[in-house]
Amino acid sequence: MIRSVIRGTGSALPAQCVTNAELASRVDTSDEWIVERTGIRQRYIAGEGETTSTLATAAARAALDAAGIDAREIGLIILATATPDHTFPATATQVQAALGCNGGIAFDVHAVCSGFLYALTTADSMLRTGLASKALVIGAETFSRILDWEDRTTCVLFGDGAGAVVLEAQDVVEDGPGIIASRLHADGAHKDMLYVDGGPSTTGTVGHLRMRGREVFRHAVVNLADVLKEVLEAAAVTAADIDWVVPHQANARILDATARKLDLPAEKVVVTVDRHANTSAASVPLAFDAAMRDGRIKPGDLVMFEAMGGGFTWGASLARI
Ligand code: ACO
Repeated sequence: MIRSVIRGTGSALPAQCVTNAELASRVDTSDEWIVERTGIRQRYIAGEGETTSTLATAAARAALDAAGIDAREIGLIILATATPDHTFPATATQVQAALGCNGGIAFDVHAVCSGFLYALTTADSMLRTGLASKALVIGAETFSRILDWEDRTTCVLFGDGAGAVVLEAQDVVEDGPGIIASRLHADGAHKDMLYVDGGPSTTGTVGHLRMRGREVFRHAVVNLADVLKEVLEAAAVTAADIDWVVPHQANARILDATARKLDLPAEKVVVTVDRHANTSAASVPLAFDAAMRDGRIKPGDLVMFEAMGGGFTWGASLARI
């Protein structure tokens, strides 16, 4: 059977790291409050010259290196972001030009924090139907540029960064590597709980992120547990079969609550929210790359990816490495 096999991963972070203590010198907050409510200890913030496309390109290069694949072999680039360099063209096309693999397919996917799951699932479908044989799937964000730095309830939660995976369509056996099952969902009725109060067709400005954190928290735990169960069922495996969960890194308490709902031991959950904060579409591939590079995730492991974000949108995907 043809499956999309993960050939390599990469990531990139801005040069500047901002600790909670540094943030507390500018915003009315404290290290204790942020750590207790979210688990976040620091975040990376893009500086001059660092944009979504530069971070995405660096992550893509690292993933290509890890895969041992030349950029010119890539026929499909899907980049998940809610903070593109420009309203258009798609940031994916800027990455394509920077990598020098022009001529294939390149476009952005916008599903906020679930963007990487949407991009991964779209790329998987396109590879399995033969539209390309090798793909780059990237999650990249510069949320620092849409934060209201006067709003302490949101500005302490987010960071910037990028993560990427290289996928290749391969003919594999039933228990071989590759993406096994994915499920995606959206419910536009909840727009007002998490949105940006600007945009080209409304205010003509970029706008700032607005969030009703408590409500988002409640929906996240329920929706994530539901979609994880759906994917387990689709793949005919149980939570006990999973080696690693690589979740969207929104908040340590959401990670704990979701793991508890599924009886997943905390040791199986990859956590990077303490280092990266919430990097939206970049958070899953950033965490995945960290666990691949430090050797926690090994060939043959069964890995579950999951995310929930603005829209609301949510999804999960199961892959054998
Ligand atoms: N520093 C200090 N105090 C603060 C801060 C801050 N940065 N922010 C809020 N407070 C205060 C509030 O003013 C409030 O004070 P009051 O009791 O005197 O009125 C108090 O802390 C409690 O505020 P709440 O908003 O009720 O705090 P809560 O316990 O709900 O935690 C949080 C807030 C961390 C945002 C939580 O709701 C949460 O994690 N929600 C999930 C949202 C999320 O992760 N979204 C990411 C995008 S979506 C996604 O990725 C899934």
